[in-house]
Amino acid sequence: MKRLGFRTAGESHGKGLLAILENLPAGITLDIEAVDKMLRRRQRGFGRSARQNLEQDSVEILTGAKRGKSIGAPITLWVRNKDQRIDDYRELHRPRPGHADLAGAIKYGTHDVANIMERASARETAARVAAGGLAASVLRSIGISVFGYVTQIGGVRCGGDPLHRDAETVREASVIGSLDPKADPEIVKLIESLRDAGDTVGGEFSVVACGVPVGLGSHAQWDSRLDGRIAQAVMSIPAIKSVEIGFGSQSASAQGLTYHDPILPDGFGGVARPSNRAGGIEGGISNGMPIVVRAAMKPIPTVRKPLASINLTTGLAEDAVWERSDVCSVPSASVVAEAMTALVLLDALLEVVAGDNVEQFVSGVTALRMRANGLTLPEGASRA
Ligand SMILES: Cc1cc2nc3c(=O)[nH]c(=O)nc-3n(C[C@H](O)[C@H](O)[C@H](O)COP(=O)(O)O)c2cc1C
Repeated sequence: MKRLGFRTAGESHGKGLLAILENLPAGITLDIEAVDKMLRRRQRGFGRSARQNLEQDSVEILTGAKRGKSIGAPITLWVRNKDQRIDDYRELHRPRPGHADLAGAIKYGTHDVANIMERASARETAARVAAGGLAASVLRSIGISVFGYVTQIGGVRCGGDPLHRDAETVREASVIGSLDPKADPEIVKLIESLRDAGDTVGGEFSVVACGVPVGLGSHAQWDSRLDGRIAQAVMSIPAIKSVEIGFGSQSASAQGLTYHDPILPDGFGGVARPSNRAGGIEGGISNGMPIVVRAAMKPIPTVRKPLASINLTTGLAEDAVWERSDVCSVPSASVVAEAMTALVLLDALLEVVAGDNVEQFVSGVTALRMRANGLTLPEGASRA
C-alpha cells in the first residue's frame, strides 16, 4: 500500500516555496502547463492585493523527473518568490487579531511577529497548488475531474451548475471564480466598497470531484474515512472555518425518508443513485457519485482600518500592524481547496491500486472501476 507523501516548505518573503511529493508512480507525464495554469488561477480574483501582479507564479521541477516524466523518486516542485526581502523586513511588534501572530510569538518566544507571519502567510498555498495541480492533472488523465468555484461572498449568493459542460468557461470568465455572471457585479461592488472602507470580507466555495471510482477511503478506521481526510485537508487552508460534505449542516434538519439517496437498479446490471445528498461518500467510502465539498472562509484579518492590539515590546495598547493585504481571497481559496482535494483523492487512490509505475496504476484504476459494475451482477453471471 502506497500513500502520497506531501510536504511544503518556504516563507512568504524567502527565496520561494517548495513542495515534495512522494510515491507518484513512475512514468507519469508531468503536466507543468496545467500546474502553471492553476497557479495563475490562485493569484487571480477580484479583491486581491497588488502582490499577485508582482509574483506571476510558475513551477519548476527540481527532482524526480526525466524528460518530463516521473521516475518513481520524490518530486520537488519549486515556485520562486520575486519579493525576497525576508532578511531586510522591519520588525513587527503589533500582532493582528485573527492571525497566528500573537499565539505564534508567545509559542516561539519572539516579540517580532514577522517571524510568524513569514510561514503562516497564505503565500504557502502556492506550494499546495503546485503539488495539487500535479495531482489534479494525474487524476484528469484517468477520468477524474476536480472543480472548485465560488458560491457566496459577503452574503451575496452565486448560483450555477458545476456539472454543466460550459462550467469551466463560465468560471474562467468570472472575476471572482463563480458560475453566476449575474451575481458578479454586485460582489465586485461590495468588495470595492469594503476596500474603500478599509474592511475585508469572506465567503463560501464548493469543490466537486467527478469520475471518482467506488471504494476510496474506508469505514474500517477513523483516519481512513475519505470524508474526514478531505475535511482535514480543506480545513487546513488558512482562514477556512467550516467544511461540509454533501448536504452538510443542512442534514441536521432533514428527515431520514426524504434525505437518504435511494439505491436503484439502473437496468443494465448496475446501480443508479437518483440523488446525491451524501455528496459522494457513504461510511467514509466514495460511492461513485460526484464528491461535493463546501467550505466557508472568514473575512481577511489584516484590515486597513486597524483592529485593537498591543505592542509586544511595551505591553501597551496600540493598533494592529497593517501589511499589504487582500480584501477578499475566496476565489483563491477555492483553487487551493481544489488542490487539496486532488491530493487527498490521489492519495486514497494510490492506497487501493498498485502504483509503482503508470501501467500498474492505470490498470489498477480500470480494475477498481470494473469491480463496482461486477458486484451488482448475479453471482456467476457475465455481462453480455
Ligand atoms: C489564498 C489565501 C489568501 C489569503 N490572503 C490573505 C491576506 O492577503 N491577508 C490576510 O490577512 N490574510 C490572508 N489570508 C488568510 C490568512 O492566511 C488566515 O486568516 C490566517 O492564516 C489565520 O487564519 P486561521 O486561523 O483562520 O487559519 C489568506 C488566506 C488564503 C487561503
